[in-house]
Amino acid sequence: MNARAEPTHVTPVFDVEQVRADFPILHIEVEGKPLVYLDNAASSQMPQPVIDRLVRYQTTEHANIHRAVHTLSERATAAYEEARAKLQRFIHAPDEREVIFTSGTTEAINLVMHGYGRKFIKAGDEIILTTLEHHSNIVPWQMLAEETGAKIRVVPINDAGELLMDDYEKLFNARTRFVGVTQVSNALGSINPVKKMIAFAHAHGVPVLVDGAQAAPHLAVDVQDLDCDFYAFSGHKLCGPTGIGVLYGKAALLEKMQPFKGGGDMILSVSFEKTIYNTIPYKFEAGTPPIAAAIGLGAAVDYLSGIGMAAIAGYENQLLQYATSQMNDLPGVRIIGTARNKAAVLSFTLDGVHPHDVGTLLNQEGIAVRTGHHCAQPVMARFKLPATSRASFAFYNSMADVDALIAGIRSVQKVFA
Ligand code: ALA
Repeated sequence: MNARAEPTHVTPVFDVEQVRADFPILHIEVEGKPLVYLDNAASSQMPQPVIDRLVRYQTTEHANIHRAVHTLSERATAAYEEARAKLQRFIHAPDEREVIFTSGTTEAINLVMHGYGRKFIKAGDEIILTTLEHHSNIVPWQMLAEETGAKIRVVPINDAGELLMDDYEKLFNARTRFVGVTQVSNALGSINPVKKMIAFAHAHGVPVLVDGAQAAPHLAVDVQDLDCDFYAFSGHKLCGPTGIGVLYGKAALLEKMQPFKGGGDMILSVSFEKTIYNTIPYKFEAGTPPIAAAIGLGAAVDYLSGIGMAAIAGYENQLLQYATSQMNDLPGVRIIGTARNKAAVLSFTLDGVHPHDVGTLLNQEGIAVRTGHHCAQPVMARFKLPATSRASFAFYNSMADVDALIAGIRSVQKVFA
């Protein structure tokens, strides 16, 4: 654990040291130094209650679900469905049937592309995406466009990394059929005005998918307030396991969509003459799902809700403000992404130093950041950069972690001076 004192001007809304004590991995050393984990946008760490829940499931509850009457199958089924209810409450979905477990955000978006896009989007139709999208909210739509002859239109951004809303509105026309937008940019941290964008799209009769992969871990999500048609996010960025994620979809749309994958559990009856699909959400959960991971994700959202998403957002904003002011004071550092409304992501470049060298040298100080294009090459192209270094914060990061990052950057600069 980093022993440096918190700056006195900051009043944490919860006890960060107490929270850190819940995360075993935050207390290991890397390269002989205390770990400073600042790669939370790529994947977050898991607290002990989630680890304990996974162990309890595997040691006393595991069997396949929805398939047998024996005790373990009933326990596993109950725990899996209870996890669905926890996720429903976490995102304020009106109905449990609207929560589909997927392997992650990528699969959730691909499910919408196959289930909705391939059925309802035709040649000449238009899909609106934004420059800020992760590749997982670009490539599936390009595949659809290639297959159907649909067109992709892209909302540009300004130099701060904010969407140009006038341009967004001008992209709508009679052929617009779908909007896909990230709520928070993984590369820059920009928080997009998705509620406003959804209202505008709906006024044109167009459904909207929100990629919430980077938003759900940091902001309170209310799909009813947003009125989004689809909302996708991943478990492993939410202090849960890998291999699990959620697609929320409005029931009326999910009912109309075709299944993405065929197999067991997604049917009511099968014969060689005719197969009748199961009801939602099971229609979209073919095969044995990642049962343990879903239950672990349920425990993760319980843990986050216990702290409170509003408290998490408030504290992370303090971390961002502190880190931004410290970084702005460093000569030779350029912050990429200066949106007025930002989540705790700091992408930056150092004059004369390749981001991969930054990442390697910071790692020698025990500091984990991501370097590269962040699976968001259109964002990099917009800033005419091949890559950035990115520090992404979570609620368990301390102000001392920020100090360690700043000291680490100074050391990198000295090496290259
Ligand atoms: N999408 C993840 C990131 O931004 C992997 O790092």
